[in-house]
Amino acid sequence: MRIAIIGAGNVGQALGQGWTRRGHDVRYGVRNPADPKYRDLTTATPDEAVAGAEIVVLATPWPATEAAIKGLGDLAGRIVIDCTNPLGMGPDGLQLVVGHDVSGGELVAQWVSGAAVFKAFNTTGFNNMADLSGYAVAPAMFVAGDDAAKKPAVIGLVGDLGFEAVDAGPLRRARLLEPLGMLWIDQALNRGAGRDFAFAVVRKKG
Ligand SMILES: NC(=O)c1ccc[n+]([C@@H]2O[C@H](COP(=O)([O-])OP(=O)(O)OC[C@H]3O[C@@H](n4cnc5c(N)ncnc54)[C@H](OP(=O)(O)O)[C@@H]3O)[C@@H](O)[C@H]2O)c1
Repeated sequence: MRIAIIGAGNVGQALGQGWTRRGHDVRYGVRNPADPKYRDLTTATPDEAVAGAEIVVLATPWPATEAAIKGLGDLAGRIVIDCTNPLGMGPDGLQLVVGHDVSGGELVAQWVSGAAVFKAFNTTGFNNMADLSGYAVAPAMFVAGDDAAKKPAVIGLVGDLGFEAVDAGPLRRARLLEPLGMLWIDQALNRGAGRDFAFAVVRKKG
């Protein structure tokens, strides 16, 4: 599939490298495509990267996401995968800046025009998106989105990276997935877990 990844940082590159290995055509939309730090990547301006792409992946810092979306133009008919976590600084450090009655994923759906928005890839670290080797069971990746016809394509992209894709229901379930992302961050950064862990769904035999 033609995939445009907006933001070529930790998450963007981890996803892009995995999907490239699986034969997808990945282009990164970045603010300065000529930046030498991107010399090994196929980069374009964000609006150029999304032209002709079936999938648009948002891997930008939360405060930059609305402006980044506005620069993409009309996304009618596309799948948008929102990997962001709506983070800001609070008295105890990083915290979610929306929740309960709206999620970052739903705000993204308000900002894009005409696309099917899915929340995914926000509940684990970029290191796991890059490399799932060493786990006894496949880590889970939850996918929330309203478009039932387009959801299998997103589930497929999740599976391409080795995750067990779990349908989390409609996009408003991003209200559950973003706190789960925050739990991963808190474990990794504040509870001594480091980055080499992931959430999995384990099931009783029989
Ligand atoms: N890090 C993780 O493990 C992790 C895990 C799950 C979810 N997330 C979420 O994923 C998102 C990205 O995280 P990250 O760690 O990959 O961040 P990062 O390494 O800082 O990368 C962010 C990228 O966004 C680009 N960017 C910033 N503003 C932009 C704009 N207006 N238009 C286009 N590109 C823009 C930056 O590129 P330039 O500055 O070169 O333009 C940079 O390459 C965040 O929302 C984060 O909460 C992160």
